[in-house]
Amino acid sequence: MEKQIFRIAIDGPAGAGKSTIARMAAKRLGFVYVDTGAMYRAVGLFCVRNGILPEDEEAVSRAVAGARITISHVDGEQRVLLNGEDVSGLIRTEEAGNTASAVSAYPAVRKHLLGLQRELAASVSVIMDGRDIGTCVLPDAEAKVFLTASPKIRAMRRYKELKEKGMMCNLEEIEQDIIERDQRDTNRAAAPLRQADDAVLVDGSDMTIDQVVSAIIDVAVSRGLSVK
Ligand code: DC
Repeated sequence: MEKQIFRIAIDGPAGAGKSTIARMAAKRLGFVYVDTGAMYRAVGLFCVRNGILPEDEEAVSRAVAGARITISHVDGEQRVLLNGEDVSGLIRTEEAGNTASAVSAYPAVRKHLLGLQRELAASVSVIMDGRDIGTCVLPDAEAKVFLTASPKIRAMRRYKELKEKGMMCNLEEIEQDIIERDQRDTNRAAAPLRQADDAVLVDGSDMTIDQVVSAIIDVAVSRGLSVK
C-alpha cells in the first residue's frame, strides 16, 4: 500500500516565528521540518564568500550553479551543507538574511533550489516554511498557513533572540531591516511573498507560541490530517 503523506506549507514575512513554530509542530506530528530560508541563506553566504555582489543579478545567476546545497537531518534538526560544509550556524546573521533576500529575487537562484525543496517533500510528511511554499513549491500541499505578526512585534522578538545569543543589535535597525525585507520579498517578480488563495491566515501578534502551534495543527486537522 502506498504510504500516505501530508504536507503543511507555512509562508509569511521575516520574523513571524515560522521556523520556531514549524519545528515544534513537526515534532508534535512526527513530520520532517524543512526550512527553505536556510537554503537561500546558504546561497547568500556563497555569494559573500566569493565576492559576488548580491545586487549583480548576472554574476549571481552565473555563479549559483557552483553552490551545491544539500540538506541532512541530525537528531531531527535540519542541517544545511554548502558544497559539503555544514554552514547551519554561519547563515544565522542579519547579513546572511539580507543577502538571501536580495539573491532570492533572481529566477536562476529560485530554480536552483526548487528541485531540492520538492524532492524533500516527495516521500515523507513535511512542514515546510518559506515565502512561496503554498504558491509555488508545493501548490498541492494538503494544508497551507500564512503566518504573520506586526513588524513591531517581529522586530522585538528578533531583538530578544539576538540578545540572548549575545549579539550586538539595535531594535530600530532590526525593525527597519524587517520592513525593507518584507518589501523586497513581497514586491519581487519571481515567486513573491503572497498568501495562497487556499491558505489560512494566522496573525500571531497576540498569541503565545503554543497557541500558534495549536492553530496550525487545527488547520491541518481541518484539511484532513488525523492525529492520534
Ligand atoms: O526565512 P528566512 O528569513 O530564513 O529567509 C531568508 C530570505 O530568503 C528571505 O528574506 C527571502 C528568501 N526566501 C525566499 O525567497 N523564499 C523562501 N521560500 C524562503 C526564503
